[in-house]
Amino acid sequence: MSDKNIILIGIMGSGKTTISKLIAQKLNRPLIDMDDYIVDKFHMTINEMFDISEDYFRDRETECCKDMAKLTGHVISTGGGVIKRKENVAFLKENGVIFYLDRPISLIVEDVETSSRPLLKEGADKLYRLDEERRQLYLDACDYHIINDSSLEDVTNIIINKIGAR
Ligand code: S3P
Repeated sequence: MSDKNIILIGIMGSGKTTISKLIAQKLNRPLIDMDDYIVDKFHMTINEMFDISEDYFRDRETECCKDMAKLTGHVISTGGGVIKRKENVAFLKENGVIFYLDRPISLIVEDVETSSRPLLKEGADKLYRLDEERRQLYLDACDYHIINDSSLEDVTNIIINKIGAR
C-alpha cells in the first residue's frame, strides 16, 4: 500500500472529519485535522483569525500545508477552502494522494453545524454559492473524485481500496 498521505478535500460538511477518522482507525495511521492543527499551531481559534481577516487565516493555512508536505503515511482532513490557493494543493500533493469528498449540498444542509464556521454565518445558502465557486477547483486538485451519498462505511472502504491499489 502506498505510503503517501491520504488527503481529504471537499466543502464544509462533506464528511471529511468523520471519514478521515474512520480511515485512520482502519489503517492504523496517524490522523491530522488541519483546522485543529492550525488552531494548535497558532494558539487562536479559526473565528478569531477570520475576525482579523480571511487572508490572515489563509496565510496560516498555507503554512500548515507546507508542514503537511513533510509527512508520510498520515490521513489528513483539510479545511474546505484549502483549494483556493494553488500553492496549497502543490504542497499537499508533494507527499499525498488527494480525494475529493463530494456530498450533495441538499444533504449537507440537513446536518451541517454552522456556529463554528465563520463563512456560514450568513446561512446555508452560502454553501450553494461556495459549491458553485469551488467545485471546479476541487475537481482540478483531486486524484480521485468520491461521491459521498452512501454509508460512511462504504465511502471509507472505497477510499481504502483506491489507496491499496496504488
Ligand atoms: C473553510 C472551511 C473550514 C475552515 C474555515 C474555512 C472554508 O473547514 O477551514 O472555516 O473556507 O470552506 P471545514 O471544511 O473543515 O469546515
